[in-house]
Amino acid sequence: MRRIAVCPGSFDPVTLGHLDIITRASLLFDKVIVLISTNATKKQASFTATERMMMIADATAHLDNVVIDILDGLLVDYVKQVQAVAIVKGLRAVSDFEYEFQMALTNKVLYSGAETVFLTTSQENMYLSSSVVKQIAYFGGDISPFVPACIQDAIQKRLSHQGEDIS
Ligand code: PNS
Repeated sequence: MRRIAVCPGSFDPVTLGHLDIITRASLLFDKVIVLISTNATKKQASFTATERMMMIADATAHLDNVVIDILDGLLVDYVKQVQAVAIVKGLRAVSDFEYEFQMALTNKVLYSGAETVFLTTSQENMYLSSSVVKQIAYFGGDISPFVPACIQDAIQKRLSHQGEDIS
């Protein structure tokens, strides 16, 4: 049986921290679906779902068993539909824990057929987030230590010229 994992997130934009988790998940599962999802409690994303999809496609082009999709609905419905056995999430410093714990338990109640698997973030990505990247790019700072090289320019150009709200 092919073991499928879904790796959901906002990825607005994808960072080296995300890429690290996706890469490690690709070694553990036969197929990983990176699922661009909407966090209904957050403000409007800076990049459209299609833009985020294209950036992740560029950054994961070397990973044969990784595909990307866009979610419009509940995560568990998608997980059930593709018969995934796991929802993979990265866990950073303690601040992530309560929120992730809540989502994992809620998803388990909604659908018990998949496990949430947490991968501990690598030490160098411990405090990295899309919000931090956006903040740096907005003020014209160097985001190269934080995002995949192939999408660095696209992120930088887009965010430093837009003058949009980055929260
Ligand atoms: O990158 P994020 O913002 O931590 O990702 C959160 C996300 C998008 C994975 C979560 O909000 C989600 O799963 N959204 C899809 C809608 C859903 O199923 N919500 C219920 C989760 S308990």
